Amino acid sequence: MDKFVIVGGTPLRGEIPTSGSKNSALPALAAALLTEEPVTLKRVPRVRDIRTMQRLLVDIGSKADVDGETVRLETPQIVCPEAPYELVKTMRASSLVLGPLVARSGRARVSLPGGCAIGGRPINLHIFGLEQLGARIHQAHGYIEAEAADGLRGAVVHFDRITVTGTEDLMMAAVLAKGETILRNAAREPEVVDLAALLTRMGAKIEGAGTTTIRINGVEKLGGAEHTIIPDRIEAGTFLIAGAITGGDVAIAGCIPEHVGALVSKLQQAGVAVTQPDATTLRVRSSGKLRSVDMTTEEYPGFATDLQAQYMALMTQAEGISIIVETIFENRFMHAQELARMGANIRLDGRQAIVAGPYRLTGAGVIASDLRASASLVLAALVAKGETVIDRVYHIDRGYEKIEAKLSQVGAQIRRVE
Ligand code: EPU
Repeated sequence: MDKFVIVGGTPLRGEIPTSGSKNSALPALAAALLTEEPVTLKRVPRVRDIRTMQRLLVDIGSKADVDGETVRLETPQIVCPEAPYELVKTMRASSLVLGPLVARSGRARVSLPGGCAIGGRPINLHIFGLEQLGARIHQAHGYIEAEAADGLRGAVVHFDRITVTGTEDLMMAAVLAKGETILRNAAREPEVVDLAALLTRMGAKIEGAGTTTIRINGVEKLGGAEHTIIPDRIEAGTFLIAGAITGGDVAIAGCIPEHVGALVSKLQQAGVAVTQPDATTLRVRSSGKLRSVDMTTEEYPGFATDLQAQYMALMTQAEGISIIVETIFENRFMHAQELARMGANIRLDGRQAIVAGPYRLTGAGVIASDLRASASLVLAALVAKGETVIDRVYHIDRGYEKIEAKLSQVGAQIRRVE
């Protein structure tokens, strides 16, 4: 298993490019199942979760050609409409094939995901939505079997809580359903908007993506399309925090500044200078002297739960007490104990973390527990005195493309050892 060895203390300086969004590319790949024609996706990040999704699609019946960050998928027919436990347990986003499979072939068999390091994460709302569209659902042996032999029909689906992949799954089911579907209390994340843009290029009729009500008029057939994935806002946000925590001067190039608006606002309140030299670049400059600022995670456009762990690492270096509240996932504080091993002062109280700072961090052996928790340990290590060894970095490889190369490029002392 690979590890990262990081020696902290160097302010980062220079420019870091942003990769394509993992959480946008995953549903976009699944959307290719909706048509027999080729779908070409550009700026697909080369990360492990994307490879897992490609493997799943190939098992289902797609032909996949990968050329750098361009992926061409063609699915002449659905050979096996199934997402097996072996894949779903390694990547929950596998459940994104449920909607497209039922829509295209009238049936799907998808393993139930089971628990996860950050929370229970059920898919009951995906299932409820498909039932509203007329699918018959049967659960046995740890699998969900969905059937709609005569096709799906449009309906009103009111999500009783906001779900990102649930909204995406239902959008992909509804594009081939008969009649109109209205998704209420839909997720407004940029990844939902990006998926709607791809589906529209494929011939779907969708209105309102990016708002809480999405209207979809089903069409008979979808065709091929070419689409460029949006930049990864969580990666961009992680690098903004890297610049801030090390007292550096870093430009994040090729991002969409609006997508990290909530983080930028917190950084500014904490005393970090963030400017926008051009439409797709953010520059972060920090003296390393930070003020503590409370933060509560929310659905977009609020502060992303996927940046909460990284923000906590930053607040360990801020003057005063900050209260961080996690509202999206019930168990997303695994990084707190590891940060404490490096010298941070963090008290957990249910969904709240109380961080006192600044405490000098020192390098230690720590364990990555999930993707974003690992990113927070990398950030803490960049500012810690001495050497930090982060074990189980396969978590970080799931969602960050070449993170050690990108950070080295701006002066970080980070290397991967086997
Ligand atoms: N929920 C339910 N029932 C459902 C679906 C969700 O109760 O059927 C609950 C979840 O348990 C959670 C909340 O609703 O408490 C929100 O979950 P959501 O469904 O929005 O999360 P997701 O779609 O499974 C996506 C991202 C996550 C990100 C969340 C929240 C992808 C592939 N994953 O997950 O990304 O944290 O939205 O923004 O888009 C990551 O990249 O590290 C990551 C975990």
